[in-house]
Amino acid sequence: MTSPLVSPLADLLRRKIADHGPLPLAEWMAVCLGHPEHGYYATRDPLGRAGDFVTAPEISQMFGEVLGLWAAAVWQQMGAPVPVRLVELGPGRGTMMADILRAARVLPGFRAALRVHLVETSPVLAERQRESLAGAGVPIAWHRDLGEVPDGPTILVANEFFDAFPVHQAEKTRDGWCERQVGLAPDGGFALRLGPADPNLAERIPEFWRVAPSGTLFEWRDEAPVAALARRVAAGGAALVIDYGHVDQGPGETLQAMRGHAFADPFSSPGEADLTAHVDFVALAATAGAAGAAVHGPVTQASLLKNLGIEARAAALKATNPDRAAEIDAALARLVDTKTKTGMGGLFKAIGLADPALGPLPGLIAGPTETAP
Ligand SMILES: C[S@@+](CC[C@H](N)C(=O)[O-])C[C@H]1O[C@@H](n2cnc3c(N)ncnc32)[C@H](O)[C@@H]1O
Repeated sequence: MTSPLVSPLADLLRRKIADHGPLPLAEWMAVCLGHPEHGYYATRDPLGRAGDFVTAPEISQMFGEVLGLWAAAVWQQMGAPVPVRLVELGPGRGTMMADILRAARVLPGFRAALRVHLVETSPVLAERQRESLAGAGVPIAWHRDLGEVPDGPTILVANEFFDAFPVHQAEKTRDGWCERQVGLAPDGGFALRLGPADPNLAERIPEFWRVAPSGTLFEWRDEAPVAALARRVAAGGAALVIDYGHVDQGPGETLQAMRGHAFADPFSSPGEADLTAHVDFVALAATAGAAGAAVHGPVTQASLLKNLGIEARAAALKATNPDRAAEIDAALARLVDTKTKTGMGGLFKAIGLADPALGPLPGLIAGPTETAP
């Protein structure tokens, strides 16, 4: 699992480990993805066929359009504040925001009230967003962190954002819980190892799993980004977070690397592969609730999109574009299918976090035939 890779980021990581010792896995992930000069997101547009992965907004315009209807309905529920901040975390190519803004035309008062704020750290993708949203006709500002977005009533959307946040992993040993770290391998590459037993780690493990047998592995993320988001919407607004992940909390690891649409070794090519891990929706909901937000869902992506009318939207699109009917059907199936490996409908979940005064949010009530797997 090692390779003596030569690249500026590999050299930098090697020096860091030689000077300070092995890096916690979360720090490895943060540097590989987020290093401002050599990190994965700083150096490329990873989306699409020529990149490493495809996301829901890139599969079909219908995804962003029904989210635009969700945002318009939430704005009405909030009492139609003017202005309202429409925030997107990690907007990729800006495709989803462009589709949201087009759908928002159904409610001209909503569109006129919008101040769009895009939270993005990648200069390459921020440039793509500028191209996608040129001529959108609403004020748009870019930020590197949610904390930079001015206060005020907020509607926030985030698709495949939190899966890129660094994960910690700890393994139970006979001596106690030990954090997984990345160190140097004899051949000059990088290799996973276990850090020393640390009694403080047990506090990060849900109580039920603390008594698990040796060899049990647990994964978690820092809570601060979700807590900050939840505090913000709890004070006036709502967020819709969509990502792949699980709604049952248990042991195991989900870290994965993707390169060229195939799984890769997370340690053999730092900064060259996308690193992600499943979102733990139980932990996310608990953090958001503790920060004062009401939690709606999670439901499967299939339930959310169907509740928001994606099938009717597909029928309308096919009626005006009969030559594209097969393509529209295939995209719809990919987004809502819960049964096949390529279907995103069950693997992806949606959760709403909101001001407790708002009441139920559109689309986030589980469908009668679907429970999140
Ligand atoms: C997997 S892509 C998803 C893009 C888009 N939401 C979509 O669905 O197509 C992750 C996005 O989050 C951005 N990103 C990753 N880490 C970030 C961070 N810490 N702060 C802000 N943006 C980040 C990436 O540059 C990229 O735009």
